[in-house]
Amino acid sequence: MNPLVLRPMVSGDIEAVMRIERRIYPYPWTQGNFSDALNSGYLCQVAELGGKMIGYVVIMPAVDEVQLLNLGIDAAYQGKGLGGALLEEAMAQARAQQMQRMLLEVRPSNIAALALYRKHGFREIGLRRGYYPADNGREDAMVMERIL
Ligand SMILES: CC(C)(COP(=O)(O)OP(=O)(O)OC[C@H]1O[C@@H](n2cnc3c(N)ncnc32)[C@H](O)[C@@H]1OP(=O)(O)O)[C@@H](O)C(=O)NCCC(=O)NCCS
Repeated sequence: MNPLVLRPMVSGDIEAVMRIERRIYPYPWTQGNFSDALNSGYLCQVAELGGKMIGYVVIMPAVDEVQLLNLGIDAAYQGKGLGGALLEEAMAQARAQQMQRMLLEVRPSNIAALALYRKHGFREIGLRRGYYPADNGREDAMVMERIL
């Protein structure tokens, strides 16, 4: 049984989401990024475990494919299979809406995320040079694809 419960993110969640976001990313999204995502109608969901928010996912639909924009699991809950469960649930929802593939960008230095995506059937299809800010200039983004 999957213990994770997903529910739509609402604007009142953003403060709690931001607390997690700041803990888990060296370059976190801003509050504005999350409210823009909500206002744009992106699929924004929070994941709860026993009623406690432990993660979230933000997905942008585009015709027949979706872009995974943010996937986060709170630091204390990482490495327990929850990120994988959240990703699988997001893919199942996209598939149920007849979406053909999921795309994402990830930092090559983000070893945990890369391993997670590979384990869940994503493959690398390209590189965007200097896409992300980094401590010593810019970092490339790996573009990955998963056929749904
Ligand atoms: C990436 C993230 C969502 C993964 O969530 P998680 O709950 O820790 O991942 P899971 O426990 O489901 O792990 C699934 C697989 O990912 C890989 N993985 C997870 N953490 C890892 C780590 N620290 N080092 C190497 N591989 C790791 C493994 O392949 C693992 O499979 P395994 O347990 O069979 O070895 C989580 O680490 C996170 O929130 N990181 C910060 C935010 C982020 O970088 N998001 C992705 C942006 S593109």
